[in-house]
Amino acid sequence: MRLSAAVLCALVAVQAAVLLAAVSSAQAGELEVGYYSKKCRGVENIVKWHVSRALKANRRTGAALIRLLFHDCFVRGCDGSVFLDKSYENPHPEKEAPANIGLAAFDLLEEIKAAVEDRCPEVVSCSDILIYAARDAASILSNGHVHFEVPAGRLDGYVSKAEEAQAELPDSTHDVEKLIETFAKKNFTVEELVILTGAHSIGKTHCSSFRGRLSEPSSQITPAYRDLLNYKCPQGSNPVVDNNVRDEDYDVVAKYMPGFTSRVRKIPDFLDNSFYHNTLAKIVTFHSDWTLLTHKEALDHVHEYADNGTLWDEDFADSLLKLSKLPMPAGSKGQIRKKCNVIKLY
Ligand code: HEM
Repeated sequence: MRLSAAVLCALVAVQAAVLLAAVSSAQAGELEVGYYSKKCRGVENIVKWHVSRALKANRRTGAALIRLLFHDCFVRGCDGSVFLDKSYENPHPEKEAPANIGLAAFDLLEEIKAAVEDRCPEVVSCSDILIYAARDAASILSNGHVHFEVPAGRLDGYVSKAEEAQAELPDSTHDVEKLIETFAKKNFTVEELVILTGAHSIGKTHCSSFRGRLSEPSSQITPAYRDLLNYKCPQGSNPVVDNNVRDEDYDVVAKYMPGFTSRVRKIPDFLDNSFYHNTLAKIVTFHSDWTLLTHKEALDHVHEYADNGTLWDEDFADSLLKLSKLPMPAGSKGQIRKKCNVIKLY
């Protein structure tokens, strides 16, 4: 009993020290393109080198990076809160939220962080590294069509709560009104919701994320695609399937959607406007994807981006950039972590 009181006191003391030693208020600095040009020359090249190498081995990692940017920035702003592992003091960080199922690429980000720490110790935040990495992934996966400059100078936060992630992130079973509300809370318009959801042209999803789709009526999902998904998702298991049917195994597409085989790609995870064609054809995995067709303004934008891939590339870059500028809550403290998965203790 005495021992646990002592441990508790020590923990409180450590936490207080952490807060006192916080580098500065996260609101203090404006984000700036070239922020590290003097502080850590070449940091963007280091990130790009590691991202390119990882995507050469597996393009899906690029999808994971883009989703990570979304899930980090939507919850407490872009502060690396999604990277924090559970600990004695924080048993339920964001990573544990059901909405964060399938998040990946954490190892790659730690690898990049270690390389950056070698060059410039405790200078570059994990949150900035994530935005650089996701930007590079978007560029590589789109063959250079999606590109933008990243203003930097973010700090890594101290707070990471599963319940916040669960409350703030959208769910794949949500209807369009709820999605609009979720995005409006972060100051994103209906158009930006439609633009950003176009990221579902890449990557994979667990069957559990769209079980309800397997019994939706043909007015909401093309029956042949529903059969394909049913085949890929046997009862009692939870594998992952491709978000974009053109990335599926040729044989499976040939069996269930023979008219589609000419569109099957040898190179998967190409980031483009195909999501909008798939949505209009009702061959998308999530209810939340399909539901965009049920709202007049959203539907108009689905048509607009299906018709104009170049416009989508540009608008997607702008919307990712806007996501990457979501700030931490007012008054939050930040630091530069040494490793992305743990808070640095001073
Ligand atoms: C509109 C609301 C959205 C909902 C409901 C949603 C939901 C989901 C779900 C459930 C998954 C699959 C998780 C799994 O089962 O493993 C997923 C995957 C993905 N999402 Fe979203 N998402 C939304 C918006 C976005 C946005 C705004 C982006 C990025 C800008 C994004 C990028 C991705 C990517 C790239 C993947 C594939 C990740 C991978 O392969 O590792 N999503 N999304």
